[in-house]
Amino acid sequence: MGISIKKDDFIYPYFVIGGTNKKQEIKLFPGIFRFSIDRLLEDIAQLRSLGLRKILLFGITDKKDNIGYSAYQDDNIVATAVRSIKKEFKDLTVITDVCLCAYTTHGHCGVLKDGSKKIDPKCTLKALADMALSHADAGADWVAPSAMAKKQVQVIRGALDKAGLRKTKILGYSAKFASNFYGPFRKAADSSPKFGDRKGYQLDFADGQAALREIKADIREGANAVMVKPALSYLDVIKEACEKLHRPLVAPCHSGLASAPLLVAFNVSGEYSLVKYGARQGLWDEKKIIFEIVTSIKRAGADLIISYHAKDIARWI
Ligand code: PBG
Ligand code: ZN
Repeated sequence: MGISIKKDDFIYPYFVIGGTNKKQEIKLFPGIFRFSIDRLLEDIAQLRSLGLRKILLFGITDKKDNIGYSAYQDDNIVATAVRSIKKEFKDLTVITDVCLCAYTTHGHCGVLKDGSKKIDPKCTLKALADMALSHADAGADWVAPSAMAKKQVQVIRGALDKAGLRKTKILGYSAKFASNFYGPFRKAADSSPKFGDRKGYQLDFADGQAALREIKADIREGANAVMVKPALSYLDVIKEACEKLHRPLVAPCHSGLASAPLLVAFNVSGEYSLVKYGARQGLWDEKKIIFEIVTSIKRAGADLIISYHAKDIARWI
């Protein structure tokens, strides 16, 4: 069976910052920018004209503190961006990343226990729920918790329902590995951990079964979609999730069952930059290698692909 690559297979990530008239290129992340909201709207107009319909928003701030308060305060950067976007682009699916690492001084994905280097689960879940609520209230179609905090999907689902936001869906970053491929993203978001690493909450890349357990748990907690991240070094995980979990818990791969959770793959920043730098050096044909990559991700069983290549792909098909 041939695999066809369609524009609707893709979600394009955006980085949004405060201020006006800002479009900053990110070092070592070729072709990717941080936008202030006004410039973001311009870029989304271009994205729409390319025929893409789904975006994932990451907020970036220089107002960081210990608890990541600027992530969930009223009128936080992402909620404000979502309001502006939704006013102008009614038919765009807006997904927001829900995590604290870009908002905390220590760069970890949760709130730390007082004076310690350990994550405080209760405070973290509360902060994530507040953040998700603020995004959903602003009109986000999906919220995507990426902190790898236990029960984050369940707690966010409960908070959304209680607030009457039943239509807001949840994309769980279920199988998020402690990967080396996140380098350019951490430059973009200035979100590298200032001490230690994320191995306490992200998954060990040697352990594929833990990934399947996390995916199962997120589905049980009410996730409308689950994610494997990164994509390329984890095609086996995508395939196994597709085959073992996709049915009967999730729609059979490529079955198009509307109500069942979707399987999403995140083709991350490091995977993207490798391709770009290789192409610049003449190592390969950029277009051909990108189609090979996204075809392999779909072949493994992903329903949707988050990719920084999405705009290029849309130009080519
Ligand atoms: C963390 C987060 C990461 C990415 C998005 N959100 C990984 C990390 O820094 O540990 C990576 C995305 C990419 O590399 O494109 N909440
Ligand atoms: Zn994080």
